[in-house]
Amino acid sequence: MIVLFGGTGDLARRKLLPGLFSLAKAGLLPARYRIVGSARSAHTDDQFRQLARDAVAEFGLAEPTGAAWHEFAESLSFGAAAPDDPQPLLDAVAAAERSIGGHPRRLFHLAVPPQGFTPTIGMLDGTGLAGGNARVIIEKPFGTDLASARALDDTIHATFDESQVFRIDHFLGKESVDNILALRFANGLFEPIWNRDHISHVQIDVPETIGIEGRAGFFEQTGTFRDMIVTHLLQVLGFVAMEPPTALAAKQLRDETTKVFGAMPPLDPARVVRGQYRGYRDEPGVDPGSQTETFIAACVEVDNWRWSGVPFFLRSGKSLGQKRQLVTVGLKRPALRMFALDPDTNVTPTNKLVIDFDDPGWIAARFLAKEPGATMRLGEASMTFRYADSFCNRHALAGYERLLLDAMLGNQSLFTRADGIERLWELSAPLLDDPPPVQPYDPGSWGPDSIHQLISPHHWYLPDGS
Ligand code: BG6
Repeated sequence: MIVLFGGTGDLARRKLLPGLFSLAKAGLLPARYRIVGSARSAHTDDQFRQLARDAVAEFGLAEPTGAAWHEFAESLSFGAAAPDDPQPLLDAVAAAERSIGGHPRRLFHLAVPPQGFTPTIGMLDGTGLAGGNARVIIEKPFGTDLASARALDDTIHATFDESQVFRIDHFLGKESVDNILALRFANGLFEPIWNRDHISHVQIDVPETIGIEGRAGFFEQTGTFRDMIVTHLLQVLGFVAMEPPTALAAKQLRDETTKVFGAMPPLDPARVVRGQYRGYRDEPGVDPGSQTETFIAACVEVDNWRWSGVPFFLRSGKSLGQKRQLVTVGLKRPALRMFALDPDTNVTPTNKLVIDFDDPGWIAARFLAKEPGATMRLGEASMTFRYADSFCNRHALAGYERLLLDAMLGNQSLFTRADGIERLWELSAPLLDDPPPVQPYDPGSWGPDSIHQLISPHHWYLPDGS
């Protein structure tokens, strides 16, 4: 049985309810299951079912119709949990458990803002709901700095054993992010060049076209660094940079990403661009003098044997020119320059491996080839793998679907671990303590102009690369 805290919120509507319906439709939920939505404000079961139906229609891949929808809708119920009155939730959980029969496992998904974690866990503890073999999924960001992450971890461990805790970062559930491990460690083609001898720099670029979508309350408190960088982008960096794990198991995988974070020096605020799109301060609920960033570009390093001297550039922001999710691995030039430079630009492009991880995703090797003709003139060529072409008949799981399923199965491999998260907060401290002022940028642009200085002598692959 799943209890969805924040059951009427943005995340539940965009991702969780459509994802759960998709899992149900694919026959991947247990034979008997119930989903109890919860929030502070009261809703009837029917109101919650209608909200879920609207959410699936707007954000889901499968239409909320037919027998599959009917069965899913029947599994939904609602129980409000105000801080001083959890009784409606207790009643809803009891009714859901009666209808499943036996002693179903409880999975609590805390899809609430960071400040809601501690009171919700306190309520689960105080009411006895957390008892037995329950599991808990905690949304990102896990804390807002090192001290709060540690305090949150203590709160969680006062109620749950670590084996019951699933700190979710849905980027790690994306097929194409998981595929970074396959690409690197299953192929003799890539791993031998995956190091400082061959790679000049790496970009992890996640521009978004959406603004804050009415989430001023969350966003003003959180900002892009906490919402995207210290969470999603650095977790993806962990997969790009890790050493081969000795097994694809939770401990070994998470040991390796934690080692990557351990090798990263603290962030240098001088190598971070904070931006805010023009018009952000006019959004409803936003402070007219807000210094919250809606954009970050940063240069970070992984100071270990494999990566020393290779800069990793991260960028993410709202209201930018395109929605993309790319890792671009820039390769060094060959030792001997025996071909003429491009007479127009006087430069020869370098090789790149581009990984698009916006599912279904693709990977492209961009390289140089001889242009047809009587002279040796080079042109850019590309070899592309597309998920949709190579594995067209497979049911791909969206990030949240994969991770919800893993949490139900008790597999923590793609969930983050407290020591890794704490290290990320530790190395973020200089930036959090002394953030550079936000620089304005135009909606639809690629961020403040200073991003070009930050990446020089390299160039952002987007928007000119494709
Ligand atoms: C969420 C962030 O975790 O990820 C959002 O809170 C962001 O601000 C979203 O838009 C992006 O994820 P995806 O998978 O929908 O592109």
